[in-house]
Amino acid sequence: MEKTYVDEILDEKFVGSSVSVSGWVYRKREMKDKIFLVLRDSTNIVQCIVRKDKVTEKTWEKAHKLQIEGSLKVTGKLKKDERAPTGYEIEVEEIEVFDFGDIFPLKGDEKPDAILSWRHLWIRNRKFTEITKIRHSLTLGMIDYFVKSGWYYVFPPVITPTAGEDTTELFEIKYFNEKAYLSQTAQLYLEAMIFSLEKVFSLTPSFRAEMSRTKRHLHEYWHLEGEAAWMKNEDMMDFVEALVKAGLKKVVDERFEELKLIGRDPEQIKEWIKKPFKRIKYSKAIELLKEKGIKIEYGEDLGADEERELTLMFDVPIFVTNYPREIKAFYMKEVGDGTVANFDLLAPEGYGEIVGGSERETNYELLIKKMKEFKLKPERYKWYLDLRKYGSVPHSGFGLGIDRTVRWIAKVDHVRDTLPFPRLRGGWLEI
Ligand code: 4AD
Ligand code: MG
Repeated sequence: MEKTYVDEILDEKFVGSSVSVSGWVYRKREMKDKIFLVLRDSTNIVQCIVRKDKVTEKTWEKAHKLQIEGSLKVTGKLKKDERAPTGYEIEVEEIEVFDFGDIFPLKGDEKPDAILSWRHLWIRNRKFTEITKIRHSLTLGMIDYFVKSGWYYVFPPVITPTAGEDTTELFEIKYFNEKAYLSQTAQLYLEAMIFSLEKVFSLTPSFRAEMSRTKRHLHEYWHLEGEAAWMKNEDMMDFVEALVKAGLKKVVDERFEELKLIGRDPEQIKEWIKKPFKRIKYSKAIELLKEKGIKIEYGEDLGADEERELTLMFDVPIFVTNYPREIKAFYMKEVGDGTVANFDLLAPEGYGEIVGGSERETNYELLIKKMKEFKLKPERYKWYLDLRKYGSVPHSGFGLGIDRTVRWIAKVDHVRDTLPFPRLRGGWLEI
């Protein structure tokens, strides 16, 4: 079936000619002698005008019967019209209707959590559509950057026998007669793969059964992870900074109009691409927070509120490094002063953590000691420990939450609204 997209016909060169476009009724306004239909498709919207005295009775009837979200193909002459939302108007001659549509149940101003059972229809809204396009460009921009830099795209499992991060946040599943878990991170598998491929990355869903109900937590999220041999913590921060900037650049290049439509100034994103990201140690972060009067002591983790305060002190993303060993994962390399060679990347404007990464412990004995301290059973991680026995090399890695990064770039209030069917507790499994 041939299809012309709205964006293709919104062009000076078609003014005065007959055009045909298919899509859905986005807005409708009916008067005595004319009906305005705004038609939308995946690319844009265009205003169509049906004049009673210019079309057949049948065509007028069709326009009259079409509901919001009804599907159709219009044919008519393209005119310039400054008053129309995208600068052009189609003077309708013919309408082919695919589905007149029932009365659409959504008005457009509903709160997303009030209409959980309508999510499959809610996702048609324009804002969510633009956010989804931004996610597309951001993700591909970062994948392109990995590939251009010589990293291999690999495909680790999602069903796992052990925890990769915090054991309290595991989703347990029945795997025939055994217990298994949904993956929290691909990291351990990526570590196994660097011994043949050196630099690897993956994009998988990660699962966290955490109890926190915040605007930045999902139970299922999209995790872009990288792991590389021979890289130290600092090298990995350099890479992550370039990676995020490559993603931002593709968004600005491909989604300039979409950004404006959803209220994010593309010029702001260009500023973040231009300026170096800030790097501070955890100890310095605590000092800065205390100076601001925030109640926090060295040794305590930075929560959403603390991260927010910190990011408001700078106008660029911040790498916070060298957290105390006790509040970070067992696999992070210790540097001897009670801290680990790690980093969290915090997005500006209050958004907070979007990436977590570190250099990894490579010493067999030290790793076992640390596992025991963190109440993990080394015998369950035999294969992982083996990696420290057969040609262990310095290596580092990180995980970037795609959803949280989209939330920041697209200025989305709640991370759930960067995904069509987010997994949260309280009714969100309805669809
Ligand atoms: O900081 P996290 O827990 O780090 C890891 O999982 C490492 N093993 C990654 C690695 O080194 N390969 O998670 C990494 C990122 C966070 O910075 C955040 O962006 C995202 O994953 N994330 C979540 N996003 C949405 N909802 C949640 N519940 C998330 N938990 C983590
Ligand atoms: Mg983290």
